[in-house]
Amino acid sequence: MLLYICFFVTKIINMLLSKLFRKKSTSIIVKQGGDGEHSGLNKVLNVRDLTFFGIAAIIGGGTFSAIGNACFSGGPGVVFLYVICAIACGFTALCYAEFASRVPVSGSAYTYAYVSFGELFAWIIGWALIMEYSIGNIYIAFSWSGYFTNLLESFHLHLPEWLTINYKSAQDALLANKAGEGLTAWQTAPTLGGLRIIFDLPAVVINLLITYLVYRGTKESKNFSNVMVYIKLAIIALVIVVGAFYIDIDNWTPFMPNGFGGVMGGVSAVFFAYIGFDAVSTLAEESKNPQRDLPRGMIYSLVICTVVYIILALVITGMVSYTLLGVSDPLAEIFALKGVKWMLFIVSIAAVVAMTSVLLVFQMGQPRIWMTMSRDGLMPKKFSEIHPKYKTPSFATIVTGLVVGIPIFFTDENFVLDFTSIGTLFAFVLVCGGVLLLSPQSEAELAERATKGKFRIPYVNSKFIFPLICIGTIAVVQYYLPNYFAETFNCTGDKVATNLPLIVFFILCIVMAVIAFMKNLSLIPLLGLISCCYLLTGMAVSNWKWFGVWLVIGLVVYFMYGYKNSKLNKK
Ligand code: ALA
Repeated sequence: MLLYICFFVTKIINMLLSKLFRKKSTSIIVKQGGDGEHSGLNKVLNVRDLTFFGIAAIIGGGTFSAIGNACFSGGPGVVFLYVICAIACGFTALCYAEFASRVPVSGSAYTYAYVSFGELFAWIIGWALIMEYSIGNIYIAFSWSGYFTNLLESFHLHLPEWLTINYKSAQDALLANKAGEGLTAWQTAPTLGGLRIIFDLPAVVINLLITYLVYRGTKESKNFSNVMVYIKLAIIALVIVVGAFYIDIDNWTPFMPNGFGGVMGGVSAVFFAYIGFDAVSTLAEESKNPQRDLPRGMIYSLVICTVVYIILALVITGMVSYTLLGVSDPLAEIFALKGVKWMLFIVSIAAVVAMTSVLLVFQMGQPRIWMTMSRDGLMPKKFSEIHPKYKTPSFATIVTGLVVGIPIFFTDENFVLDFTSIGTLFAFVLVCGGVLLLSPQSEAELAERATKGKFRIPYVNSKFIFPLICIGTIAVVQYYLPNYFAETFNCTGDKVATNLPLIVFFILCIVMAVIAFMKNLSLIPLLGLISCCYLLTGMAVSNWKWFGVWLVIGLVVYFMYGYKNSKLNKK
């Protein structure tokens, strides 16, 4: 009897697992996506466009706003965090590039997860990417509004406070009885049926404009974004050059005033500044030669931005004390403090331009991911509908506009910043893990990739190197921060929740070192996976809770809709 029960339970579990982790092969995905041939989208983008697209997506709110709080938390030592994030993103970009070269259709990490982990994880990634693309755009719309309002002020145009701040920030200012814009907004706002009318009008308007532009088509959007990238790179170069004259090297001592914990406190902000290179992969079906150009576009844009960030962080922390940088417009603030008035205006314009281009890229990326999910049956058919005239996923574009636009009335920027970073890091972890799971290609396939100039992630055997890196890192940390491990593992009370991610991380390192030794894993994706997991350990506990809630909602939606309607059911 017991044997029978065991047999049936095993059978049911096997059946469930094979259904839940059902995969689609690369060839089917490429065929469905039409390799761009029949997808209905215009194939107009080349490697330069894609690189520009990457830069357009990367340099934005993180560079002009969030960098301030990161420097405030970590001091000049925040450059270490920029380097750590660059390393994590660099490995991840190589993994994205490997996937983009093998699976050249829109959909970003979602499509990649479908190939390697199967449908359930693909759905989870698609769901997490909403946090990156749509929720990320809410933060940028708020930051955009801040700098735009500054610009209007320089032309002596003043918008009432209740039209330039979100409801939640005004309410928080009231509860904390903190004088300033929030409290003024609360006190001066008109009321309707007892409810105060407070919302961020410029953020709402920019979202409407961007949605319209993306709805009208890729070519127009591409030209628009290329111009903006030129402008913002030129102005950031100017900030660096002018700022360099005001560096006082005393400001770099102490380099880590709040210790390494302070540096890691800026992880959401710094990582946010790097998000965007992956958005390039959503344009696979609109690029002329996706397998060759997508990887290049991603890697070039990431390298350029990393160099810019490291220099910028050194310049701004060298110009003034890090204690003065905890503001939402730090690049304007440093020049205000140094009395360089003409730079204030230029920086505000650059910020508005930079953030507009980020909004544009993300608003283009989201509908394309949904389009791919809809083709797989995981979302309603309407999401893959292509506009007959503009050749864009029109319905999905409008829904994106709503998903970004509606929360602008209810949320605040800190919440969306953290939420975006944790969701994106999670997606990155799965992409790196996905490359580790990809089946090895035959000699003939590899030779074909080489002759066509398609990107291939270099294989370095991690068998001994990875365990050695782990041991070396532990030794270095123990040497420079002698209490680090003791404090991490011997924690009590509230600290347990805070340290739990770190403890899980160390266990993961050991497990991966053993697997690497046994299975000769490829080193680059493994380092990508581990470095992104490390960044995840810097996220606050509340952040993890909200992320968990988001995932549960996603799973409910999947089992109520996607699972039943998946195209894989029809095979
Ligand atoms: N990296 C993008 C920005 O900083 C998301 O705005």
